[in-house]
Amino acid sequence: MQKPFDFVIFGGAGDLALRKLIPAWYRAYREGQMPKGSRIFGTVRKTEQAENYLEIVREAAYGYLRDDEIDNATWKEFEACLHGVFINITELDDHWAALAKTLDEGNEERIFYMATPPAVFSQCCKNIHDSGMISPSSRVVVEKPLGYDAKSAEAINAEIAQYFEENAIFRIDHYLGKETVQNLLALRFTNCIFEHLWDSKSIDHVEISISETVGLEGRASFYDDAGALRDMVQNHLMQLLCLVAMEPPSKLNADSIRTEKLKVLDALRPLVGDDVARNTVRGQYVAGEVGGKQVPGYLDELGKDSNTETFVAIRAHIDNWRWSNVPFYLRTGKRLKQRCAEIIIQYKTVTHHIYPESAGNMIPNRLVIQLQPDERVQMIVTSNNLEKHEAELVPSVLSLNLTDKYEKFYSDAYKRLMLDSAANNPALFIHRNEVDAAWQWIDPIIEAWQRPENKPQPYPAGSWGPKASEDLLKCDGRNWFNVGENITEES
Ligand code: BG6
Repeated sequence: MQKPFDFVIFGGAGDLALRKLIPAWYRAYREGQMPKGSRIFGTVRKTEQAENYLEIVREAAYGYLRDDEIDNATWKEFEACLHGVFINITELDDHWAALAKTLDEGNEERIFYMATPPAVFSQCCKNIHDSGMISPSSRVVVEKPLGYDAKSAEAINAEIAQYFEENAIFRIDHYLGKETVQNLLALRFTNCIFEHLWDSKSIDHVEISISETVGLEGRASFYDDAGALRDMVQNHLMQLLCLVAMEPPSKLNADSIRTEKLKVLDALRPLVGDDVARNTVRGQYVAGEVGGKQVPGYLDELGKDSNTETFVAIRAHIDNWRWSNVPFYLRTGKRLKQRCAEIIIQYKTVTHHIYPESAGNMIPNRLVIQLQPDERVQMIVTSNNLEKHEAELVPSVLSLNLTDKYEKFYSDAYKRLMLDSAANNPALFIHRNEVDAAWQWIDPIIEAWQRPENKPQPYPAGSWGPKASEDLLKCDGRNWFNVGENITEES
């Protein structure tokens, strides 16, 4: 049975805490996953916020939880675990000492969650340390973005390491907490049929896309500093790439999985100098229509001029035995046509054709793993049109729709990751070496993009990105398989 814990959220009234962390803890509480006696502290910057913390949190959480999850009586019980604490994160004063005392009277298991801008991570860790809050069973959870480039990430990691051992530092990438992403491991490593056809002998190329319909969502200043490459590629897309490309880990534990992921990152072919222009596309949305609504362009939303990209497409290669000459096309963007996260494994054509060309539609197999909005796995196969006397080949779909199968299931990546951090299970968190390796690959791209001639290419909101993104695949004789344009069961 899991031990009760004290969970301190620095930035307890910030967007992340209110939108994700507190609702996730409520869900855990409601489902009986929070050990009795556990406490959650949210630090706030104003004394009135501390006094009204429960109201602030309830009002926000009720807006984010689904109607069928809200139960007033359960919420009231849950409130007994919640405490608002006034603290100035950067100033070590009596309020820190008071919180340290409260923690000393509570649980040995302590988790400190940095839901703050990265600029204050190290000062906050120092204050946690200097105020004597670190028990032998303490851990710190840090949110992305971890740094701005390899150098700044290294500096943050080094600073946090002064106060916490590596095995007590839990770096979050919420994509790893998605059940659908976890299921990718199950799919690959529990089914013989896939693993034996998972290399350059059988696979032509791989596409990994995370498309979003949202724009800036009130995070203009953060996003404009970061851009899509830092916000989505350096972490979520590269983690998905690792899970698709890694060798089977010998065990399902943190060390084995992280070791295999790191090997993929180390084998990524560096994109330097002119490679960047040849292999990457950056875009920025202009006004358009998303989901039937007119939306402004990025610069209008931002209210100033900017070169920040809201779209990225990359052709990557993994230089190892398994993936030699198999391009991995990565793509992500805001204000695209549809919200979706999808992995496409495109198989090669058969080596010898026995059907006449007139038999038509023989397409190579394609495995489609959709992670969101629905979770489904589809294999596109070629079959015979049974209605025709002459041989006529048609594409058909073998389909597994997990969203229909688990109708009642609702995936909350944060709930899973916070429970794992409370249970001291780091398997779904990122090791320092992974962060370093990912930045090492991203840094030269950032450098090349900083040249003045390198402007993001405009694309209309509601499209699939700039034309150059299509061209990136076209010049290899390929196309993106956009969600909704894939073959469906009905077609
Ligand atoms: C976050 C990014 O990490 O992931 C956001 O900062 C993005 O810009 C979000 O919108 C996407 O996550 P999800 O779970 O909605 O696909």
